[in-house]
Amino acid sequence: MAETPSIFSGVALVGSGSATPTQSLSNDQLGSRVDTNDTWIRTRTGIEARRLIGADETLTSLCCKAGANAIAMSGWEPESIDLILLATSTPDDLFGSAPEIQAKLGAKNAVAFDLTAACSGFLFSLVTAAQFLKNGSFKRALVIGADQLSSWVDWSDRRTCVLFGDGAGALTLETTNTSKEGILGFQLKTDGSRGNCLNLKQKERRESLLDGISHQVGGYEPIQMNGQEVYKFAVREVPAILETLLKRTNTDPKHLDWMLLHQANQRILDAVADRFDIPHSKVLSNLANYGNTSAATIPLMLDEAVKDGRIKPGHLIATSGFGAGLSWGAALVRWQGPD
Ligand code: COA
Repeated sequence: MAETPSIFSGVALVGSGSATPTQSLSNDQLGSRVDTNDTWIRTRTGIEARRLIGADETLTSLCCKAGANAIAMSGWEPESIDLILLATSTPDDLFGSAPEIQAKLGAKNAVAFDLTAACSGFLFSLVTAAQFLKNGSFKRALVIGADQLSSWVDWSDRRTCVLFGDGAGALTLETTNTSKEGILGFQLKTDGSRGNCLNLKQKERRESLLDGISHQVGGYEPIQMNGQEVYKFAVREVPAILETLLKRTNTDPKHLDWMLLHQANQRILDAVADRFDIPHSKVLSNLANYGNTSAATIPLMLDEAVKDGRIKPGHLIATSGFGAGLSWGAALVRWQGPD
């Protein structure tokens, strides 16, 4: 029997891509500059190295590489893309870098804009893009998560500079019939009342323009973080939101193929695995090589696991992002891959 046509479509996750800077900075190298060492960083965070955008690269160039990679895997023509969402807190252009990426990719029919939600940005963008697809407005979307936090850490502050790195990842989505549904449920949360434990704030700097009239001078303070508060937030809220998501979608954690969490600290990943009584090996991690790349971590990890064959078509994945805002969210997704 023919399926009843519906204006509401399913969404399939069809392609992934990623790009990381060529410059790598190891814990030992960092230890020669700030008062830290490999043992401390490795045991407290799981991080061994991070990548930093060098003189011959930009965040936009990484986004284009990651995006082109995902488009190629999908077998799409760039002109067939309707929407490009760039999740970032560190665009090369404060007015938004997505339009430049749209032009460079040749996606001339796509509307392109940036979305900022710090380390939750990719997850929030994925869900946002899916809404345009599900309501029938668009058919194909490219979601990119990318950040260059190396520009905004204080490289003399050992409490923060050891944690972050730069990178970009991308995912393509398209409408499909509901039997191939790729976004099975989601939960998104914000609590601005707790936002002061992780900030990248504008500098308080005013200049006088005329008598009685002054203006703010652009520029930002380096990242400020209360690590212990953020840690407590993550180990409390990530399992809680995943639990709600799994309950609402009637999913037994044992039926998950993978958990794909924001890559901030290996201890957070392990704590979430323990909470659900699943082996640590089921929680994907590439934190050791890249550190926390903010909005890039989820698609960067996804692409690595798709390319090395760990994530296979049909796999069920619980994903969760969390970070500044404070913001956090989770989605239950099924990877389809290209036809
Ligand atoms: N190298 C060596 N020593 C360091 C250090 C470093 N890079 N950073 C901090 N220390 C020291 C501190 O000064 C402190 O010394 P003291 O006891 O003499 O004062 C000691 O190590 C313990 O510091 P503390 O802050 O309690 O460490 P921690 O176990 O909480 O680990 C973080 C710190 C940042 C790794 C941890 O809190 C964390 O991962 N928080 C979450 C961060 C996060 O995920 N942020 C991004 C969210 S998107």
